[in-house]
Amino acid sequence: MSSAPPLSLKLLNSMNQTGFTTALGFAFELSPWVVERAWDERPFASVEAMHTAMMAVLDASTTADKLALIRAHPELASKAAIAKQLTAESNAEQASAGLDRLTPEEFARFHDLNAAYRERFGFPFIICVRLNDKASILAAMHARLSNDEATEIVEAIQQIGLISKLRLLDSVTT
Ligand code: GUN
Repeated sequence: MSSAPPLSLKLLNSMNQTGFTTALGFAFELSPWVVERAWDERPFASVEAMHTAMMAVLDASTTADKLALIRAHPELASKAAIAKQLTAESNAEQASAGLDRLTPEEFARFHDLNAAYRERFGFPFIICVRLNDKASILAAMHARLSNDEATEIVEAIQQIGLISKLRLLDSVTT
């Protein structure tokens, strides 16, 4: 999904920290610190192992860092999303679930649920849209509104794990 040329794992394993972070910074939305901190664990035997190291960085991070990462994600079906004003990865992900082609009624439903979710938790609703469709996203938004904050932080980080893994698998060759 990244527009950059394919990256090989071998090349990534040979890079210094700055090069590695620049090459893979797209994996976690506007939050290159996750990739940067995982560099210490190289060399990686597989894309999965590399991603596991990145998720360990997230596990070890503070709640403030986790919230900053969650807040770096765009709202689903927002005006900016529909106008394709997000990162290249986000634009493509939202389009994959048809979120750039909503009826006015669907748009209003997303708008209301986004607002209710943000009002309750203070951060945007995160779900891996590439593994969902409009109906399952709306159902999850509704259901997750009754979770508590700690549960939603854990859930959002798990979903970010799915989003970032798909981004890496798309972009890194072995
Ligand atoms: N916000 C909520 N879910 C997603 C997703 O899957 N991708 C992106 N980029 N932003 C989101």
